[in-house]
Formats: sequence, C-alpha cells, structure tokens
Amino acid sequence: MPLKLRRLSHALGAEVCEVDVSRPMSETRFGEIYQAFLAHGILLFRNQDITREQHVEFSRRFGELDRHEALPRDRHPKYPEILLVTNEPNPDGTPSDSRYTGRQWHSDMSFTTSPSLGSLLRCFTIPEVGGDTLFASMYLAYETLSDGMKKLIADLHGIHLSGTRKIANATTGIARAEEQRRINPPVAQPVVRVHPETGRKALYVGEKVKRFDGMTEEESRPLIDYLNGHATRPEFVYRHQWRANDILVWDNRCTMHQALGDFDESQRRHMERTTVLGTPSGYVVADA
Ligand code: OGA
Ligand code: MN
Repeated sequence: MPLKLRRLSHALGAEVCEVDVSRPMSETRFGEIYQAFLAHGILLFRNQDITREQHVEFSRRFGELDRHEALPRDRHPKYPEILLVTNEPNPDGTPSDSRYTGRQWHSDMSFTTSPSLGSLLRCFTIPEVGGDTLFASMYLAYETLSDGMKKLIADLHGIHLSGTRKIANATTGIARAEEQRRINPPVAQPVVRVHPETGRKALYVGEKVKRFDGMTEEESRPLIDYLNGHATRPEFVYRHQWRANDILVWDNRCTMHQALGDFDESQRRHMERTTVLGTPSGYVVADA
C-alpha cells in the first residue's frame, strides 16, 4: 500500500495518515516516510499514544540522536535524548526553565557547529486554545528572492547566538542565558545553505542571528530583518494547531519554526522533543 499523505499547506508540510510509529516498520515503509520528509519539510503523525522509549526508537530511524549536552537544563532527567518543552513547574515548585523555548524564529541547534538534521516534537498536553507553532519553508524563502539579493547574500555568514530572547528579560532567565552562552559560544553559519540530501538551496537565518561575520551589527540589522520578514511571509508559513499525541517531525535544514505563546499561561502545555544530529556546518567566532 502506498503511503497516505495529506498536504498541510501550500508552502510545506504533510500529514502521514494511518501509520502507527510504535509498530514495527519495514525499511521500505520508513524509506517512503523519509522521502516524504525530504519533499515536504515537515510531517505530522496524529494519535500516537506511545511511550518515551518508542518516541526515541522511532526518532533513531532518522539518524543518531543528540544527547542535548548543549542544553543540559532542559533534558529529561531519565532520558538524555528527550528535551522538555514545558510550562509544568519543577518538582520543587520553581517555574520550568523551558517554558519559553522556541519563542522566536529559529532552526534547532543553529548556534552549534553541528546543527540538527531534524526534530520530532510530541505533544502531551495543550491548552484549551492556542499554543500553536509556526513553520516556514526556507526553500521558498530563498527561491523567491531576486537574483540581485541572491548574489548579495551568497557568501554571507550570520552569527547565531544561543539563548531565548524572551527569558533573557526575566530575572531568573539571565543566569540561564549566561550559562547557555558559556556552553555555546557564537557560531557563524552560511546564510544560504545547500541541503546535504536534496541539493536545494535554503535561506538559513532567523532571530538568533545577531550580525553578519565581518560586518557591524548596525550594518547587518536591516538585511537580517528583511530576510527574516521575507522568509516568514504568511504564504510561506504553516501554522500548526496541536492535539495531544501529535508528533511533528521537521527538517531543520530547510525550515524554521516559532512557538507562538498564544495561550493562557495558567494552563499547561507539555511537549517533548528528540533531536537528530546533523552534519557539521559553520564555525565558532571569537566574539559576537
Ligand atoms: C522546539 C521548539 C516549539 C513549540 O521544541 O524546538 O521550538 O511550539 N518548540 O513548542
Ligand atoms: Mn525549536
């Protein structure tokens, strides 16, 4: 039986229907899923009531998993391959460190020299309304630039900083942001990345980019803002409304995403992520 797909938006994404990721899966079937992943940038699997072990096991089929050494505070205490994205308070009652994870346009682990291939985010608990995530196609973003702009950005490198913008403003968040920066010094990444598997060019920017290497922040800012604004035009974006037991897989090499935070923060939102390691990209810069 061929894989049953339902496209999620014009720009990107497809739902994989009638697949239970916890069941044994042939190489052929997984190959079809992987091809769909490369073609659509994000894949949605609904109704996956699975264990953490099964989440990790399915994720491993995409490649070797990150043990999240770069994000030690958000790791699951028992499963280093699982990263918590939750507003459930810690056992001692203090607020969760990961409650603002992803609240800016980004591609996972872009602030390291081995940025992620892809991530698999599983939804456990979602507020009554909202808590959506936006995804943008960075292929479309690149392909719709003018030839002049493509030429201008061809050799630029953007300096990516770790840490979440929102939490850096909160008192408890400053220590966390400082720790993040210590573990993860700034990394310059090509602004145009060739996807290692499809060979297609994708824009690789986002709101973690502070400036271009070899340029001042003041010089860089207008172009960074233009590229981020262009890449996230509504027609290039898919907005996901979560249901419990959704698993969404995205390709970090040709998409960006953002957690909207469009919900009542007194309600619970609990997600868990695995992160597939990617190929090396970029270089560490001495000072941001
Ligand atoms: C992530 C992330 C977004 C969300 O897990 O990498 O950015 O909506 N999450 O939780
Ligand atoms: Mn993310």
